[in-house]
Amino acid sequence: MNETLVEFRGVRLGYGAHTVLSDLDLCLVRGDYLGLVGPNGAGKTTLLRALLGNLRALEGEILYPGGKRPRFGYVPQREGVDEAFPFSVEDVTLMGRYPRMGLGRRPTRSDRDFARHCLERVGMADNRHRSLRDLSGGQKQRVLMARALAGEPEILLLDEPTTGMDLASEEDTLHLIDGLHEQGMTVVMVTHLLNLVANHAPTVGILNRGLTLGPVARILNDERLSALYGRPVKVLEVGGRRIVTGSPLQSAGCGGEATAC
Ligand SMILES: Nc1ncnc2c1ncn2[C@@H]1O[C@H](COP(=O)(O)OP(=O)(O)OP(=O)(O)O)[C@@H](O)[C@H]1O
Ligand SMILES: [Mg+2]
Repeated sequence: MNETLVEFRGVRLGYGAHTVLSDLDLCLVRGDYLGLVGPNGAGKTTLLRALLGNLRALEGEILYPGGKRPRFGYVPQREGVDEAFPFSVEDVTLMGRYPRMGLGRRPTRSDRDFARHCLERVGMADNRHRSLRDLSGGQKQRVLMARALAGEPEILLLDEPTTGMDLASEEDTLHLIDGLHEQGMTVVMVTHLLNLVANHAPTVGILNRGLTLGPVARILNDERLSALYGRPVKVLEVGGRRIVTGSPLQSAGCGGEATAC
């Protein structure tokens, strides 16, 4: 059964008088894996904030048809993470557990075990006593993923989850996300890495003032991506994998908006 977890109806998002995205219609169904792409400043993080319920619609409605807000796990873009406090990796992971523990309760042995299990899933259990701020960028991203998983989310919102990761860590992270999705997790992943979206997310949304949404094969094509990025972009199929390649801008003529689908 298609169970809609979040629905946007004619939503406009922005900050004060500044409209970032408008006419958004979106149904996020349990089990979806949605990849979101778009240029810097297009509103990807803004859309995630609205999904989370942290940003109200300026117009239209954001509905949770199940009657209550689903449980979200949020992996924020790295620059949004406060590193001023010297929390340990384990403490940061446990913070993701607080909404499951209830107000004012201290973590039990089973909460700690679960946090440790989440750290194991992202390959960071051996670092659990280190301070978050002493970790490398890619290691921090993994801890933030563990923190999101510690809340046993129904929907995982990932804002550039592989920023700062080397190739092996990036592959491990994508493998983890794919595995979570196969086990039923609803995933929304924002990334600038078109190759990741092209090969992992079955549904893709392009953000550019509005949202153009559909199956990956229909949405990620040469014309649409060239228009979006204002330069020639090619989508190739090699050995069963999609490869998205861009070229430096040589002449005008491919600028403009992505067309609605
Ligand atoms: N708190 C805020 N107050 C005012 N304007 C904001 C705020 N946050 C974002 N904006 C503006 O909204 C627009 C969209 O920002 P957003 O962070 O959603 O873009 P993005 O697609 O996530 O970009 P990037 O790829 O750089 O992460 C930008 O013009 C940004 O300056
Ligand atoms: Mg962003």
